[in-house]
Amino acid sequence: MNARVKLVDRQAGIVSREIYVSEELYQKERERVFGKAWLYIGHESQIPDSGDFILSRMGEESVIMTRARTGEVQVMLNSCRHRGMRVCRYDEGHTEKFYCPYHGWSYNLDGSLAHVTEYEREYKEQGFDHSQWGLIKAKVAVVRGTVWATWDPDGDFDSYLGGARQLLELSFVGWDGEGAVEVVGSTQKWQIPSNWKIVAENFAGDMLHVVSHRSVDIVGIGPNTESGRRDASHTAQYVQAGYAEGHASVVGFYNDTDPRRDYSASKITAEYFQDCYAKRKRVLGDQALISPAVGTIFPNMSFHGNQPRTILVAHPVSVDKTEMWRQYFVDRDAPREVKDFLRKYYLRYSGPAGLTEQDDMENWNYATNASKGFMARQFPYNYAAGIGNETTTNRLPGATVEVNGQGELHGRSMYGKWAEFMGEADHV
Ligand code: FES
Ligand SMILES: [Fe+2]
Repeated sequence: MNARVKLVDRQAGIVSREIYVSEELYQKERERVFGKAWLYIGHESQIPDSGDFILSRMGEESVIMTRARTGEVQVMLNSCRHRGMRVCRYDEGHTEKFYCPYHGWSYNLDGSLAHVTEYEREYKEQGFDHSQWGLIKAKVAVVRGTVWATWDPDGDFDSYLGGARQLLELSFVGWDGEGAVEVVGSTQKWQIPSNWKIVAENFAGDMLHVVSHRSVDIVGIGPNTESGRRDASHTAQYVQAGYAEGHASVVGFYNDTDPRRDYSASKITAEYFQDCYAKRKRVLGDQALISPAVGTIFPNMSFHGNQPRTILVAHPVSVDKTEMWRQYFVDRDAPREVKDFLRKYYLRYSGPAGLTEQDDMENWNYATNASKGFMARQFPYNYAAGIGNETTTNRLPGATVEVNGQGELHGRSMYGKWAEFMGEADHV
């Protein structure tokens, strides 16, 4: 790679293809982005009781998310301090301790070292200090049940999120404006031959790619009685919101009508959402009319806050391979019929045989592949749509806003921050 290539020109909306295909830059990302940023780990509803755990990832590395005896959520590197073995090899479960199968060390739910094999005979005399050999712990923060972690001991989640906290608050509260949400079933996981940033950037607010979804929009798989794939037909306006912290979103501003009034395929579901909406307006006031439709929290956590309500994390595996983890959410206290209604819709939308994500993957995979060649990688990508249309709104504090909603502010926000993390800010 030519070190003098300008990787990100935020003002001009130009991004070098090197950032998607260069092995050298990918190796730097492992440390400079994924070793430092706040990363989405999982949702509290996955570990309701003390002793519950799930495996997750921070970049390429496996981590364990547990609920300790104190009720606190902990995130720890899944690698034994003795000689590196994975101490947990189950995707999810319940346990008292984590037992390393290699030489038998064991760890408590909070990661502290519980037992060292042959401690009395081989370690005690030398003054072995258990407290120095617990699992490596990450710093943890929780917003509306979403669990985040960083390896940066100085990481401050509030300043990391900036104004984008509003997006998480509105997306992962129950539809009634105050209840909790829960993950439906388990996390759906699969791998694709794409660079992770192409995925994260698409969900950050690429509205221009709607042409890719024309077939599914014609078929009509949404939860309401209309065509299309979502329930957003009552949205008065969509804007793009970009944050200096690197996050971005497409946010809908509703008319003051129930956005879910057409769920008439299920009477119980329709009534549930009508009740929720009335309550949401009482609890949230004007905020009830703000709907983060889709967005990305830098670097790789993407979400739909409307319907379908999901989180997609684009975990890097290599420069041209990404492991996709998708979770679907429902209101924890909703009736069973409502949960079933939404689960079936989610499966139609982006389940293993769904009709939407498949369109996107074709684009991401071919784009990655077609950007690798000697000739191709010399020419940058274009993110110039909407430059000059930026403004602000007091409905989204902390955001720069593109009111036409069709620009590429999302890409400029994300890659501007990426360049800062990578130590390339001088080139922005
Ligand atoms: S690697 Fe875990 S006990 Fe040895
Ligand atoms: Fe899409």
